[in-house]
Amino acid sequence: MKSLGEFIVDKQAQYPDAKGDLSGILSALRLAAKFLHRDINKAGLIQDFLGEAGSENIQGENQQKLDVIAHNTLKKAFLARDDVAGFASEEEDDIVIFESEKGRNAKYVILTDPLDGSSNIDVNVAVGTIFSVYRRLSPVGEPVTLEDFLQPGNQQVAAGYVVYGSSTMLVYTTGNGVHSFTFDPSVGVFGLSQEMVCIPEDGTLYSINEGQYLRFPQGVKKYLKYCQAEDEATNRPYKSRYIGSLVSDFHRNMIKGGIYIYPSATSYPNGKLRLLYECNPMAFLAEQAGGLATDGYQRILDIEPTELHQRVPFFVGSKNMVETAMQFMSDYPDEGLTP
Ligand code: AHG
Ligand code: MN
Ligand code: MN
Repeated sequence: MKSLGEFIVDKQAQYPDAKGDLSGILSALRLAAKFLHRDINKAGLIQDFLGEAGSENIQGENQQKLDVIAHNTLKKAFLARDDVAGFASEEEDDIVIFESEKGRNAKYVILTDPLDGSSNIDVNVAVGTIFSVYRRLSPVGEPVTLEDFLQPGNQQVAAGYVVYGSSTMLVYTTGNGVHSFTFDPSVGVFGLSQEMVCIPEDGTLYSINEGQYLRFPQGVKKYLKYCQAEDEATNRPYKSRYIGSLVSDFHRNMIKGGIYIYPSATSYPNGKLRLLYECNPMAFLAEQAGGLATDGYQRILDIEPTELHQRVPFFVGSKNMVETAMQFMSDYPDEGLTP
């Protein structure tokens, strides 16, 4: 058995240019993940952990108590380190500039969805934490600026997630493949589960909130009908699997082979998922595992962000499935019914 800490040290020796100072960031994440594992696992026992916080985030979504707890835990974990110059979170309107001397001299900024799928908390279903790391553009020694955070996903130096499921796993990439670790709570250690995780090129799972069907673009409607059609050669009909927590849906599809779609809809003209906190980190992982991530037409990682909380349609998973879905998007353009 190899621990996450040992694995990171080994990798640094293997890839001397593998951005050594990232190990501090991964170690802060690992620590925050342990606290969140503890809090999520006892949510049903502690009134302060369950239910709505009574506040809204900038997107007008109700914040759950654990959204706020997760946000604060991550922020504190990074504030305590020398390695982060700034922090942005789905649960905070503006960027947080780490003003201390250490912060000003740090090289990286971090973006996070502290608790993904948080509406699942009250019903004991898997949730996650997503993170994304960039090298700052502004000069070291000065406070970071919004520009440091609005970089295209192809500039990420690391990304990953923690899934709090039937076990807690940390999955990350620094651009040399995707690696997964399982938390053993009895010893407080993340142990290596799989090095170089690969998404099967083809899959038989599709994940989408089909209740929104009538609001989807024509291409998505036609692709869903394709998924449901009988065809022995391609193992159709595919299976529909949707948890409503991107991290868990992505994790399952990465292992088994599948596609996750959160398209645009009349109710969500740009989709629901956030480019910087959700789509870019998942896209980096997907590509590193041999899969694809697009907005239906173009590579997610090449989108130039214009706003911190920007949303984008999202198609991610097995390469051949995403390519087929994109083909449907261009074969069936919309005729004004859907955006
Ligand atoms: P969050 O809890 O961080 O706001 O994210 C929820 C996201 C994503 O995880 C999930 O796949 C999607 O919202 C579910 O949305 P629907 O309920 O519209 O299907
Ligand atoms: Mn989310
Ligand atoms: Mn969230």
